[in-house]
Amino acid sequence: MSGLQGAVVRSSVAALLLHRLLPLNNNVTGPCLVQAWKHGRRTRGGGGGHTWLQLRSPAAPFSSHVVIGRGVARAVLASEVGLTKPADPVLPEIAVRPADLEVDKWQGDILVVGVFEGSLGKFEEGGFQNPVLKNLDKLFGGILGEITTEEDFTGKSGQSTFARLAGYGFKRVGLVGLGKLEAAGSSLKVWKDLGENIATHSKTAQAHSVATLIAQSEELSEDVKLAAASAITTGVLLGSFEDVRFKSESKKTTLKSLELIGMGMGSNLEDRLAHTVQKCAGIILARQLVNAPPNVLIPSVLADEAENIAAAHGDVMSAKILDKKDCEALKMGAYLGVAAASTNPPKFIHLCYTPATGTVTSKLAIVGKGLTFDSGGYNLKTGPGSMIELMKFDMGGAAAVLGAAKAIAAIKPPGVEVNFIVAACENMISGGGMRPGDILTASNGKTIEVNNTDAEGRLTLADALVYASELKVDKIVDLATLTGACIIALGNEIGGMFSPSDELAEELSAASKRAGEKLWRMPMEEGYWDMMKSNVADMVNTGGRPGGSITAALFLKRFVDEKLLWAHLDIAGPVWKDKLGATGFAVPTLVEWVVKHSSS
Ligand code: BES
Ligand code: MN
Ligand code: ZN
Repeated sequence: MSGLQGAVVRSSVAALLLHRLLPLNNNVTGPCLVQAWKHGRRTRGGGGGHTWLQLRSPAAPFSSHVVIGRGVARAVLASEVGLTKPADPVLPEIAVRPADLEVDKWQGDILVVGVFEGSLGKFEEGGFQNPVLKNLDKLFGGILGEITTEEDFTGKSGQSTFARLAGYGFKRVGLVGLGKLEAAGSSLKVWKDLGENIATHSKTAQAHSVATLIAQSEELSEDVKLAAASAITTGVLLGSFEDVRFKSESKKTTLKSLELIGMGMGSNLEDRLAHTVQKCAGIILARQLVNAPPNVLIPSVLADEAENIAAAHGDVMSAKILDKKDCEALKMGAYLGVAAASTNPPKFIHLCYTPATGTVTSKLAIVGKGLTFDSGGYNLKTGPGSMIELMKFDMGGAAAVLGAAKAIAAIKPPGVEVNFIVAACENMISGGGMRPGDILTASNGKTIEVNNTDAEGRLTLADALVYASELKVDKIVDLATLTGACIIALGNEIGGMFSPSDELAEELSAASKRAGEKLWRMPMEEGYWDMMKSNVADMVNTGGRPGGSITAALFLKRFVDEKLLWAHLDIAGPVWKDKLGATGFAVPTLVEWVVKHSSS
């Protein structure tokens, strides 16, 4: 590695137990932090007060340590269905660093070159025109020329070719197509795909160290290079993560270091990479939470995870967990109606991020639907299309909230307070459960005739939104796997965004673009409220099939203080991907949105 300058960003450290673990037995009372708040005093630092990010400490000029999802692995189960005890999560521990050296001086396992379409300029005078490729081809005795011809590699996106070498400083060289140069500036996907490709090849070849560079990187602006370095890192970290907690055997990644050659140097890039690593830790936590089966991830375990986040970041984050009695005192009849059939008790989660110093100029709340399982209740989900076997993902909104909380606690944006709220419970069936026809009274006094127990998410969110409104925040964003109708409308790649506020819709839309995620604004057609009228109560909870995701959003609106800005994101589609499982959708957008509110 001689000749390398620059800094190291270390992603997660799974093996080291660096912070005090919370008591995860559900019968044990929570940490002192939580206790103190319950008694009306908010204390800081009760979770140990460790700072995980050690930026520019003398020993490690630039390193960040991230521990993910430990509680999910270690939780003592309240519901012991099936004796499943998750293994310790195996998490990628990869040092990411910018490097500035001649590529032929690099030493390691795999060198990956990103190539734009049509930039090979091949074989006039028997060689590549592109100086990077020309150089490498010469070094390897023409092997790049041969493989690109044999495999008809032209740099189209999706193309890649790898060769095994012998007798050089590195074992493998790969070319990965990036598509057209003009498109790369505006699309993060190109770079993330490159990162994922690197992760896949590293795992296959059991590589320990990889480096990547872009042929023609001199044609990219500094901003594009920064965004590209971040997106490549995201692709490598997320692509290296595989959730094997519930598998008895698995092939693990061996990747330990990623070097970004020629993408720039300096503190701007280092800060960006540290931020990226923290964001990825949040995404991975969200994925672990969603992937965990519903016999393991019950409401109390979700609450434990929230407490873990507060404990690991006691300087900026505090946790408050309300149990059933506390929620009864707050008259949360809609939420408690849903929770009524479950043996596992509900847990109302409230994390609060406040910067350690400076004044707060914006107050935000992020509310997530937290159904750790949705059977449908008496309106049981039946038949193959009902997806009942996937309804562990019905806490995808909550997972995005906690993933964002973890990332925000590590990034520590100044000037912004963020409340992270989840009304966690299960939608089950029992003699004590909510019946179709029951009338529930929410905490704002409104009455709801339950004409379908499967429209439970909006009932839990109703009380959570009333609670968030009472915190006198400026803006609320809620996230929920709320309706199958939204999947029909937008498919699995795009989240539905509903908001009466153009300003907030615009902010979220911009944040999602920076984050490389897709949101599509949907109409809040007030006329459709006619479908939600009840003969006996203030409203019913479902309005039938037409515009099902719109009537759901209109329902939520009744529980938000009209004076504040509010948006609802229906993430039922993008929360889950067929072969991958949980995606961690919305964590990147939320992080971008919160960081945009920071001021120093
Ligand atoms: N959790 C579901 C929504 C859902 C369904 C998400 C399928 C992902 C895939 C929600 O609680 C629900 O059951 N919604 C009903 C509402 C209906 C009864 C008005 C739905 O979408 O079918
Ligand atoms: Mn449901
Ligand atoms: Zn649901």
